[in-house]
Amino acid sequence: MQTDAIVVEEIVKAFGGTKRRWLPGRRRAGDARPEKTVYAVDHVSLRIRKNEIYGVLGANGSGKSTLIRLLSTLLIPDSGRASVFGHDVIRDEQVVKRMLNRVSVEASFFKKLSPFENLMYATRLYGLSGAQAKREIPVVLQALGIPEDRIHRPLEQMSRGMQQKVAIARAFLTTPVFLLLDEPTTGLDPRSKLDVQEFVLRLRNEHDATVLLTTHDMAEADALCDRIAILDRGRIVAEGTPSELKAQAATPELLDPTMEDAFMHFTGKSIEEAEQEEAEPVAV
Ligand SMILES: Nc1ncnc2c1ncn2[C@@H]1O[C@H](COP(=O)(O)OP(=O)(O)OP(=O)(O)O)[C@@H](O)[C@H]1O
Ligand SMILES: [Mg+2]
Repeated sequence: MQTDAIVVEEIVKAFGGTKRRWLPGRRRAGDARPEKTVYAVDHVSLRIRKNEIYGVLGANGSGKSTLIRLLSTLLIPDSGRASVFGHDVIRDEQVVKRMLNRVSVEASFFKKLSPFENLMYATRLYGLSGAQAKREIPVVLQALGIPEDRIHRPLEQMSRGMQQKVAIARAFLTTPVFLLLDEPTTGLDPRSKLDVQEFVLRLRNEHDATVLLTTHDMAEADALCDRIAILDRGRIVAEGTPSELKAQAATPELLDPTMEDAFMHFTGKSIEEAEQEEAEPVAV
């Protein structure tokens, strides 16, 4: 029997506004209408199996990073529950923190130190011996396409894509049981994208990790994920294996839909249109 590693139940996180209901009848003179509340994550429920690569596919502003922050204990939900291997993210925060590693664009590093120094620090925290770390760090960095001469130069001199790769290397070397990857390949060139995708697979296959990754890259979700949830304005509008989602978008005219077609089918718009809407919010 497959076990659920991650369980999320009806989780909600809203930003802005008063979160109290605006009652026109009780309005007093001079009261401003409260700013609009944005439900970044709106009653999301999902279950991720142990050793699964679970993708959350959504446009800009659909709530992907908020969901990741809720699961990695960086944000407290307004309501609902989430647990990681049976440990509640709020009640057992410290235990959960030790089990996970989050990779995001704002990866926390000591920017003045080199990738090697940063990784030495991280691996020592996670209990790898100094000798082992010294041996493995250059091997992993080079496998990710970071040239040897960059390994000892300050991290702040590296491009964002390179820093992203160092974050992936850290995840690989510290072997978390639950890995949260917030758009791990966004902004990377095609070669680097493939390098990172291969490492995500290795993390799952060799290190037995359970992976939640967010992306707005249709091909990546299709190729890398065992199951995908499509997130639209904070809500999950579809969930299934890539083939299941694509099959549901099939019509007599469109016998072999792509993931892009599936996204359109479930959200009513293409990812470009969805991102355009986010960039130009309509006044309400
Ligand atoms: N700290 C915050 N304060 C106010 N609003 C926020 C905050 N964080 C997120 N939001 C809002 O919540 C919604 C979801 O944001 P989120 O960053 O989770 O989306 P995303 O899917 O990660 O987008 P992107 O693809 O651009 O990274 C957006 O409308 C965003 O403006
Ligand atoms: Mg985001």
